[in-house]
Amino acid sequence: MPSWLIALDRYFPIRYLFWLFCAVAAMLSAFVWVAFGQWGWAALTFVLLVGLGVRDSLQSRHAVLRNYPVIGHLRFLLEFIRPEIRQYFIESDNESHPFSRQQRSLVYQRAKGDSDKRPFGTQLDVGAQGYEWINHSLVPTQVASHDFRVTIGEGRAQPYSASVFNISAMSFGALSANAILALNGGAKRGGFAHDTGEGSISVHHRVHGGDLVWEIGSGYFGCRSDDGRFDAERFTANARDPQVKMIELKLSQGAKPGHGGVLPGPKVTAEIAAARGVPIGVDCISPSRHSAFDTPLEMLRFIARLRELSGGKPTGFKLCIGHPWEWLAICKAMLETGITPDFIVVDGAEGGTGAAPLEFTDHVGAPLQEGLLLVHNTLVGLNLRAQIRLGAAGKVVSAFDIARMMALGADWCNAARGFMFALGCIQAQHCHTGACPTGVTTQDPLRQRALVVPDKIERIYRFHRNTLEALRELVQAAGLTHPNQIRATHIVRRGGEREVRLLVNLLPFVQPGELLAAARGEVPWPHAVFEVYWPLAQASSFAPAA
Ligand SMILES: Cc1cc2nc3c(=O)[nH]c(=O)nc-3n(C[C@H](O)[C@H](O)[C@H](O)COP(=O)(O)O)c2cc1C
Repeated sequence: MPSWLIALDRYFPIRYLFWLFCAVAAMLSAFVWVAFGQWGWAALTFVLLVGLGVRDSLQSRHAVLRNYPVIGHLRFLLEFIRPEIRQYFIESDNESHPFSRQQRSLVYQRAKGDSDKRPFGTQLDVGAQGYEWINHSLVPTQVASHDFRVTIGEGRAQPYSASVFNISAMSFGALSANAILALNGGAKRGGFAHDTGEGSISVHHRVHGGDLVWEIGSGYFGCRSDDGRFDAERFTANARDPQVKMIELKLSQGAKPGHGGVLPGPKVTAEIAAARGVPIGVDCISPSRHSAFDTPLEMLRFIARLRELSGGKPTGFKLCIGHPWEWLAICKAMLETGITPDFIVVDGAEGGTGAAPLEFTDHVGAPLQEGLLLVHNTLVGLNLRAQIRLGAAGKVVSAFDIARMMALGADWCNAARGFMFALGCIQAQHCHTGACPTGVTTQDPLRQRALVVPDKIERIYRFHRNTLEALRELVQAAGLTHPNQIRATHIVRRGGEREVRLLVNLLPFVQPGELLAAARGEVPWPHAVFEVYWPLAQASSFAPAA
């Protein structure tokens, strides 16, 4: 939808215009019919269309119809006739889409509880370069439950038993109040975690009581002083809430690493302002870097302080890998201080966002495979892996995506846009305009009415449960009993027509303690990235040593 139409729609919901036209036409033709006995067919047609519009705006299954009564049927008609025509009409201004139709329809099916089985065999080209599969066993196992878990913060006062699949960080503000309610309600129903995003904890996060991961970004929303700096007292008040299970310090997100964020003043409603602790209607800025610490050493001490103030809840950080020496500097600071985070969430550059410049979404930060592998390998090589759990996020929507991340070293996965699809997102990519057609990423009360919370809570719960059910089937087929047993020896990738290799032979994996031994000069460096950047990394600064 062109931007001028979106702007106009903010003042008058033009998407109701056709419905309104039908109402006027119904009255006119009814009058002509009663007065002159003509146009009866027109009166009937328009009355039926008006009735359809009423039904559309009251039903809860299709968010698009609630927001686009009567005309919304065009989308389904086009989808029914030929998906390509639909693609052209509805999403004409978006040449490329982050997620394919197959990926989205799998999420829709699992969220709706429709059969996610495929007839006739794979639609993938198994001969294509990069095609991947997991090897099955002749002796599959029987695993009773899909509820796979990982314990985070073992040995801390309040360790958390997390699902291996959770809702990734998305702020209230980027998402609508109804979206937050549905996500958190689904998390409560399914016993999995919901990350607040840097927008902090809102009243909508508290209604259903689903487990929260409280994310602390550079704006310190929900724990900030009037001048925008970290406020320990306000932090403690929120962090000690029993609904908060973990504390996540946000260093960067894949879609816009090193780039702050602004929520424009007009979007800073009273509710958003209250959640963040900022003034209403004023641009709400997330600086591109933190003010609470300047060096890796200070960052780890800050993490230890957050953990203490929270009463011993698992505390960690989220990042997208940028300069390798900065990541290695954090590791050197861990070795020097003995302070370790309880978890690290690695976000891939392919990750999503509410809004970011193209250059950042397309060309800044390491993709998930490389970022996750570097983090996992470093911790293994430094004998720190046992204390630190790893989360991974970046285009994870299916059970195979989760299995693949486990093979690369992850202990659990987070998804953002996967859960947005389960909420009814149609990838219209209007998140930054406030004109989301399905009420997911808008603060417009009329538009978010399209998202019917009780209905979407079920969809969030079902998407999670059916994805883990599929994961249970994969684990069984591979002859395993838990996804954390999936290794790079289980997954194969096609390199060319006649070349297929196990991930373990294709990607570099480091042995326990190998980095420490290499740093002492006892063994060769396991990989050039360590040979080049370990000497440059310093615990006392994020800058490379001269
Ligand atoms: C609408 C939206 C808002 C987001 N907000 C945040 C945020 O506040 N903090 C954060 O760390 N990541 C944020 N992200 C990134 C996601 O948490 C996630 O790491 C990334 O999108 C990768 O996951 P996905 O591919 O499953 O979407 C956001 C993503 C989206 C799509």
